[in-house]
Amino acid sequence: MSFTVPHSELAQLEDQVQAALRTTDGSALDVLGYGEVTLVLRLRAEAGAFACKRLPVFPDRGRFERYEEGLRAYLNRLADSGLHVADTELWHTRQPSGRITAYCVQRELPPHRLCSRLLHTEDDVWIKDFFARFLDRVESAVEPTLGLDAQAANWMDVGGELVYLDVTTPLMRDTRGREQLDVRLFFSSLPWVLRDAVRVSMSKSIFDKFYETRGVLLDFLGNLYKERLHELVPAFLEQANARLSRPITAEEVAAYYRDDARMWELIQRLRQADRFWHHRIRRRTYPFLLPPRVER
Ligand SMILES: Nc1ncnc2c1ncn2[C@@H]1O[C@H](COP(=O)(O)OP(=O)(O)O)[C@@H](O)[C@H]1O
Ligand SMILES: [Mg+2]
Repeated sequence: MSFTVPHSELAQLEDQVQAALRTTDGSALDVLGYGEVTLVLRLRAEAGAFACKRLPVFPDRGRFERYEEGLRAYLNRLADSGLHVADTELWHTRQPSGRITAYCVQRELPPHRLCSRLLHTEDDVWIKDFFARFLDRVESAVEPTLGLDAQAANWMDVGGELVYLDVTTPLMRDTRGREQLDVRLFFSSLPWVLRDAVRVSMSKSIFDKFYETRGVLLDFLGNLYKERLHELVPAFLEQANARLSRPITAEEVAAYYRDDARMWELIQRLRQADRFWHHRIRRRTYPFLLPPRVER
């Protein structure tokens, strides 16, 4: 099932990324997709095409090993819940400074099978069936200690199966509700003005929704606005509410989207400013690849 990571080609990809960061010119990179947090790069290697998701740089081996353990555990728990997850390997390289650069690597799946795309192109019958299968998957996976970021752009429909893609941020909590992820590291792409405030006051509420079916569905439905698919909301609400003890309303979805969009917009703007500050004022390399502005 799994695959061998193309080591030397990944090392070359990382060199290209380093060059892009130094020059802030990413035009030579082959971008496969944009998430809220990462850029996903395509790597054409001898063994095929791969999707490579660059992680925040780990300050030392211990932090990296803890992440690796968490990722393994997350992949196993998702698989145990019956979810099909894209085969994922972790590749890393040590910088002279001792810091570790790592990528989550998956085989490239056919881009036209991305569910956020299919929802634009397929007919009502497919769409209704998709959402029924989706609800089954979400219901059987999500638990108070196991979370899912289930927006449409995180799934592919291949060979009649929904395959989940977005595992770089393992969403697991211990039985006391504490995030297992190195939240501090994963928030390191936020400008320093935000980092502490966000970490302390927002992280609990940002993540809460991923650990209950209702929250996951609300997030999925709210995101349909961003995908310009909001005309699907009424039919999906009917399908979803048939399974929920506390129904979701259309107003709730719209309000959720407004808040979520505002939060990401602010974060995006502050990041651009932070990058400007790094480059122009301090003349240092800004260590993250930023996605372009999203129309909301
Ligand atoms: N294995 C893959 N094959 C093809 N495209 C992919 C693959 N994984 C991710 N992508 C593309 O990249 C986008 C972002 O990937 P994702 O893993 O969701 O990262 P993020 O955490 O940034 O949201 C996806 O919506 C999809 O378009
Ligand atoms: Mg994603």
